[in-house]
Amino acid sequence: MVTIDWVVDQAKQISTLEDDKQQLMAATELVAAAVKQTDWILEEHHHVCESQGWTLHPLFVKPDHTFGIFVTGWLPGRGAPAHTHAGWTVIGGLVGVETNTLWTRTDDESVEGEATLEVHSVKALGPGEVLVMPGEGDIHSVINETGAVTLSLHAYQFHPNYCDRFCYDPDAGTVHPFITTPIDEK
Ligand SMILES: [Fe+2]
Repeated sequence: MVTIDWVVDQAKQISTLEDDKQQLMAATELVAAAVKQTDWILEEHHHVCESQGWTLHPLFVKPDHTFGIFVTGWLPGRGAPAHTHAGWTVIGGLVGVETNTLWTRTDDESVEGEATLEVHSVKALGPGEVLVMPGEGDIHSVINETGAVTLSLHAYQFHPNYCDRFCYDPDAGTVHPFITTPIDEK
């Protein structure tokens, strides 16, 4: 049976793994196991920041921010632009369906501030489903197209507020640093 204490204990053990690939495999197993149930989710996890459109509720974060696992909530109609994570990411669906678009960067990265993207695939991530983004080249955008708050479980190699991330405007052909406010810190 999945409990929040079990998820946190597992996350602490995973945070001690030094090999990136082993850590990703273990995090994928944890997320896959945890999203088979939703009765461990807390009431506070349903609260989402109106200004940002999403909130990361930390379950466990390594003190040096090199590993973190969060329940993430998205408001209806809100999302995140195409962006990177600096390392691997595992997302598991808990409540509702979040639409993830995976992008491929197609330019040669020779012009600062400019970037071209094309859609690689679109994944509607529902409860119990897992999406793995294994490395630095991964770019995704997220949108909650449903009429209710959606929740998912996110494990990151690097805490999103403490690593270099970039976001893209595929229509304008631009790339910028992606800075999110650590309003969700505990
Ligand atoms: Fe992301």
